[in-house]
Amino acid sequence: MTTGPFALNYKPALPAKSDYGIAVVGCGSITTNAHLPIYRRHGLNIIGCFDSRPAQAETFARQFSISKIYSALDELLADKKVDIVDIAVPATEQLAIVQRAAAAGKHMLCQKPLSETFADARKCVKAAREGKVTLAVNQQFRWSPAIAATKDLLRRSLLGEPTLGTIQVNALTPWHKWEWIRIKKTIDVLYTSIHFLDAMRHLFGEPLRIFVSGTPPPDGSCAGETRTIEVLEYATTLRAYVHDEHHNIGGRDDWYGFYRVEGTEGIVKGSLGGLFGFPTGVPDKISYLSRKLHPDTWIVPTLEGGWFPEAFLGPMASLMESLQTGKPPVTSGEDNLRTLQLVFAAYKSMEEKRAVSPEEIQ
Ligand SMILES: NC(=O)c1ccc[n+]([C@@H]2O[C@H](COP(=O)([O-])OP(=O)(O)OC[C@H]3O[C@@H](n4cnc5c(N)ncnc54)[C@H](O)[C@@H]3O)[C@@H](O)[C@H]2O)c1
Repeated sequence: MTTGPFALNYKPALPAKSDYGIAVVGCGSITTNAHLPIYRRHGLNIIGCFDSRPAQAETFARQFSISKIYSALDELLADKKVDIVDIAVPATEQLAIVQRAAAAGKHMLCQKPLSETFADARKCVKAAREGKVTLAVNQQFRWSPAIAATKDLLRRSLLGEPTLGTIQVNALTPWHKWEWIRIKKTIDVLYTSIHFLDAMRHLFGEPLRIFVSGTPPPDGSCAGETRTIEVLEYATTLRAYVHDEHHNIGGRDDWYGFYRVEGTEGIVKGSLGGLFGFPTGVPDKISYLSRKLHPDTWIVPTLEGGWFPEAFLGPMASLMESLQTGKPPVTSGEDNLRTLQLVFAAYKSMEEKRAVSPEEIQ
């Protein structure tokens, strides 16, 4: 941890013990582009992998020099060397794997969304509780440099009382790469804005209610909403919103991903580099003003790392720390149910055209 008034503590860090045996279930795009690159960089102990498409598991194992390819999930779950199952399969497949892994006594890092329904997400959390294992969810956007640095400023009260939080994203998402998602009735909030809503909770706590307006694109290329405006109202004078647009035709130079937090004593603003071309992106940018440090000087630190892949160390490190301290991981299953309440409140809001309290989702 760095110190001094201008030091920003935003990088995910592994706990004292980090040699837990990890087995990967789902050797697709996100484990290839984000999980394994960052796990390998930090020397994590990858025991083996499994994918329902054996050829995909072989390609993955070859790329990351993984010696063990399991031929079935049960074989993976029976391996005593495996402490943590790192699951990255379509959300509809997740519950069945979680229930089996929990029964086998394995801890789990699940991918977001934990489930496509609130009822199944609760079943995931219940299975982990009954199996006396720890379940965390990969809401790694919390550890993206911009958001983690903003959290650090808020934690140190350098912005005073928060009054405004905004995340504005306007880019072109290549939905054709994920044919399975293009046909879903729930797209942006459940699969993308879930990160932004989770970040708002991380930064500011629980909103009282959410109002969302969203729509699919006019050309019918996606079934669900791919443009949303999400307004969050808090018990204090804080107000927040997310604007997420996925069909920007203006070319890469016109894309943006901005965030801004205002408080009674300061402002932090910058850009979310991860949006500028998955999976590589560009570094996040940040600048901030805190009247507690200086009345009118903007501070412009350089942030290292990104939403992809560096932030992916965060949820795994937090899960490992939880196994040592007994405290819940930052993005525990229980915590994630609150993010999902907000997500499903967003859909209820779109459907019923009114502000919805997350508590309405049970
Ligand atoms: N946290 C993030 O920012 C982030 C980013 C991208 C994707 N994701 C999530 O990660 C998950 C996977 O996404 P992806 O882009 O890697 O998809 P993908 O389709 O590229 O990979 C999924 C893999 O899972 C395998 N699979 C499917 N069902 C399985 C089962 N029952 N058992 C074992 N393997 C199975 C598939 O064969 C495939 O190789 C999704 O839930 C997605 O929402 C999260």
